[in-house]
Amino acid sequence: MTSDGMHSDRGEWSSKLGFILAAAGSAIGLGNIWRFPYVTGQNGGAAFLILYLVCVLLLGLPLMVAELTIGRFSRRNPVGAFEAIKQGSWWKIVGYLGVLTGVCILSYYTVMAGYTIGYIVKTLVGNDTTFESFTSNAWLSLPLFLLFSVLTVLVVHGGVKNGIERWAKILMPVLLFLLVVLIIRSVTLEGAGRGLSFYFKPDFSKVTGKTLLAALGQAFFSLSLGMGAMITYGSYLSKKDNLVTSGCFVALFDTMIAVMAGLVIFPALFAMNMNPAEGPGLVFQVLPRIFPQLPGGNIVGAAFFLLLAIAALTSTISLLEVATAYLVDEKHWLRRKAVWIVAAVSFGLGLPSALSQGIVPALGDLPLPGGGSFLGFMDWLFANVMLAAGAILISIFFGWVWKMKSAAEEIRQGYPNVGKLLTAFDIMLRFVCPALILVVLIYLFISIG
Ligand code: PHE
Repeated sequence: MTSDGMHSDRGEWSSKLGFILAAAGSAIGLGNIWRFPYVTGQNGGAAFLILYLVCVLLLGLPLMVAELTIGRFSRRNPVGAFEAIKQGSWWKIVGYLGVLTGVCILSYYTVMAGYTIGYIVKTLVGNDTTFESFTSNAWLSLPLFLLFSVLTVLVVHGGVKNGIERWAKILMPVLLFLLVVLIIRSVTLEGAGRGLSFYFKPDFSKVTGKTLLAALGQAFFSLSLGMGAMITYGSYLSKKDNLVTSGCFVALFDTMIAVMAGLVIFPALFAMNMNPAEGPGLVFQVLPRIFPQLPGGNIVGAAFFLLLAIAALTSTISLLEVATAYLVDEKHWLRRKAVWIVAAVSFGLGLPSALSQGIVPALGDLPLPGGGSFLGFMDWLFANVMLAAGAILISIFFGWVWKMKSAAEEIRQGYPNVGKLLTAFDIMLRFVCPALILVVLIYLFISIG
């Protein structure tokens, strides 16, 4: 039962720690461990890392606090949240876009997540088929996709406290532990030093406009911003909790895990004389070639993919939760029914993505942005375009429509002495976020041509 007694069917996190782990679980995912290292590798290493950290701090953090505040104030899913703050306005369309984006990201993200489960077994038994032949095997990728979809449903089924929070509390510490083990293994390899200097010694001559754009896009995706996932998770926060410090912890953990993932990948990569700019296949193609060369390589490799699967699961549950919360809050569906139906829709939407990785060649070679495959196109459209569009709209809504003056009342509950920090967030949300994201969106559309 919530404290206001009005929406007693809604859940609430049992503690601030429970929320932080669940929200960090949403943020930490394939984005950190699969996407971050390959984007960093493609963009020159250390200089990209610094730009990324700046984006997280200046744009990600204010937007994170803005989403959490909108959520907790309204205690609603994204659609209901915009409606609660600005009744009868078209702003709730931003909420609908968020629900749609969540279901669509879930569709192809779960395909990738399914591969991680396959790779746990593949690495453990030392099977050395290539990534392409793995993904083009329909008898492997489709059942794994289905399996991961069902796992996600089973967790979200349990609701906020007994589903999402309980599993995040178990899974997140396991993930941290596995990462530390892998870092120790990686940095003690012979030749690891060159990887460390690639990762930590910046060469700013390599920085271009494209580097900045990549850093910004990666920051939104990685922090789960721009589609209302943090609005939804914020809606289950208690009024006693401090929104600013909670948001800071989530951003800090997310960034820490990404940086740690780089510490696993780059030293090992350089120790094996491999190319850091390999692209999206980096984790799936390069690492399995590295593991067999390590003592206990099969186990280390399987542990790595287990970690990737765990991180992906705590993200898919948040992607599913957004649409579920919408149906439960607004349409008064039973959670059980909402979860299965959304997951089924997302599974259907994900089929062309799953088939586009070698099973149906025509779906892998489309005249569309995002590298040509249907999955690449979905990632381009929803992770790049829609998250950026969502982020710009949310920052404008917060800064210019709801306004910091009203939002500050909500933030001060749980953080009475927030003070000057709000002025800084206000400036970021009103001017810096919209301007920078606009540049990114314009660039995205120019780059299609
Ligand atoms: N942040 C997740 C990751 O890094 C992906 C995600 C994006 C999850 C948007 C929810 C919402 O993998």
